[in-house]
Amino acid sequence: MFSALIMTPVSDPSSFSTVSKCATKHLNLIYHVDFDKRVLKGKVALTLEVLEDKFSSLILNFCDDAALQDHNHPKPQVLISLLRVPVYCHQSPFLISLQPHSMCTCEDLWVECRFLEILSFVQSCITNHSVSQALCFPSLSQRATHCRSMIPCQDSPSVKHTYYAQVSVPKELVALMSALHDGQVPDPSDSSRVIYRFRQPVPMPSYLIAIVVGALESRKIGPRSRVWSEKENVDEAAFEFSETETMLKTAESLAGPYVWGQYDLLVMPPSFPYGGMENPCLTFVTPTVLAGDKSLAGVIAHEISHSWTGNLVTNRNWEHFWLNEGHTVYIERMIARCMESEHLRQFKGIGGWKELQESVNQFGANNVLTNLVPNLHEVDTDEAFSSVPYEKGFALLYHLEELLGGPEVFMGFVKSYIQLFAYGTVTTEEWKNYLFTYFKDKVDILNKVDWNAWMHTPGMAPVKPKYDTTMADACTALCQRWVKAKEEDLASFTEEDVKKLNSPQLIEFMALLLQEEPLPLSHVKKMQEVYQLNSVKNAEVRFRWLRICVRAHWEEAVPLALKMATEQGRMKFTRPLFKEVYNFSKYSDKALNTFKENRGALHPVTAMLVAKDLKING
Ligand code: BES
Ligand code: ZN
Repeated sequence: MFSALIMTPVSDPSSFSTVSKCATKHLNLIYHVDFDKRVLKGKVALTLEVLEDKFSSLILNFCDDAALQDHNHPKPQVLISLLRVPVYCHQSPFLISLQPHSMCTCEDLWVECRFLEILSFVQSCITNHSVSQALCFPSLSQRATHCRSMIPCQDSPSVKHTYYAQVSVPKELVALMSALHDGQVPDPSDSSRVIYRFRQPVPMPSYLIAIVVGALESRKIGPRSRVWSEKENVDEAAFEFSETETMLKTAESLAGPYVWGQYDLLVMPPSFPYGGMENPCLTFVTPTVLAGDKSLAGVIAHEISHSWTGNLVTNRNWEHFWLNEGHTVYIERMIARCMESEHLRQFKGIGGWKELQESVNQFGANNVLTNLVPNLHEVDTDEAFSSVPYEKGFALLYHLEELLGGPEVFMGFVKSYIQLFAYGTVTTEEWKNYLFTYFKDKVDILNKVDWNAWMHTPGMAPVKPKYDTTMADACTALCQRWVKAKEEDLASFTEEDVKKLNSPQLIEFMALLLQEEPLPLSHVKKMQEVYQLNSVKNAEVRFRWLRICVRAHWEEAVPLALKMATEQGRMKFTRPLFKEVYNFSKYSDKALNTFKENRGALHPVTAMLVAKDLKING
């Protein structure tokens, strides 16, 4: 049914799985979710295509702390043993070696393994409502290389497969997966339970398998969309995300048909570490985008765009992550251009460049992790994560757009690239070759691009794009007024200053202040007096405002900053807030202690990275 390009095997430094020997085509999953025992039991059948003549062993990724049950399987016999090898990213692979007589010459073979996973994380998430604590079940695979903690599988984005799943849960709960709903039936083995069925007929990489079980409700928000969340938030979420269908239609007009059928949204518990995650048919989103005025819905445009770049055309391994994120940011900003204005797209470009600067400053301009295409051998992908693939990637695409004839022309290339590589995976080299093919009449221009500087050199992008500043001017002007103001000038500030700014501009104004030297405390206090920023709920505003206050050593802001850092766990907010308080030396210990007290409620990746930021060992 699906055409895909023949893929040349490229090794995957983030996976032990032998992806060149065989490829998973389909997964059949059976889950039994037991909240009392805090156990996820499961069974998976992998349908594999064998890619070599004398296939004799298969290495799957599976996480260390999951117990494997080696039952007596019907034929073909499989032997499962755990291999201990030096590991990075704390996962051990295991080897399934086939009996000699079953040495494979046939095209397909079945391997069945049973597993049992201890749900260590079930109760450790922050939820809005304490009643739902035990019911909240954050996806265990909220990370690029963590599908292996749920399913023994070839956990590499180079392998694409379909899946079918049956999930047994207590009747009063709902199960959702990154797939189409395929009905539900009573669990024949237990009348208090129900089995939800899912099918994902579009081949996709394992990192996009997601499962959620909870006391969830939904509202219809469009012809192919529902929003899911705990009942307390569901109406608010339906309002916030009411533009979803318009965004989907706009994306289709830019990138081609949406192939995944349904596009639902799920509002995660506050501990969800990302803004959003593009799980097919079911985007996960942080509750921190519930601003009350749809002003943070750009996250949805981003996740929708992944339906083409990321999910349909996938990076072959995580070294080419910029192909996923850079193109997605590019399409996301094209959606902003279509739905709002070119000025808004330009304004977002300016904001993105600043984010890139921040990442480069943080990692250090010589750090190879700031390369657009980094080397990830022996690197934990969670630690390598930054704005670089997003914003250096976007800057490159925008630079090419300028060189090659503008937004329409370059979007034409992006659409054609998507069509060519749809249902397959791609490397930077292949992307670049196709760029040269598509623009065969403009090869002279392309040859002038310093590709090595863009792709394989650390630091900022070699060319700074020229963005229109229509929307940014007001932000820069207000920022400079504050920076230059003397004590006697403070009386000139009034609430009118910010009334002239829209929500993205207010955020940009604060982002600009954060790039400057800390303001004197008197200035920040005056700012509160005239703009009343302490009462702003919008998380993007509040986050930056609290950093400005802590940086100015306003002691009253410290508890507010720590409250925000722990009340929600989106890494974009939680990490800098902890760091900011930690850097205020009088409150370093307070930051450390607050982190230690709340560590258990944070997502494990967030906790690991905050610990590093605060220089806590172990
Ligand atoms: N795919 C990412 C989130 C992600 C990245 C999960 C790496 C796991 C590992 C998602 O599409 C994303 O980029 N989210 C952004 C949204 C923003 C760019 C609008 C985020 O989380 O902030
Ligand atoms: Zn993304």
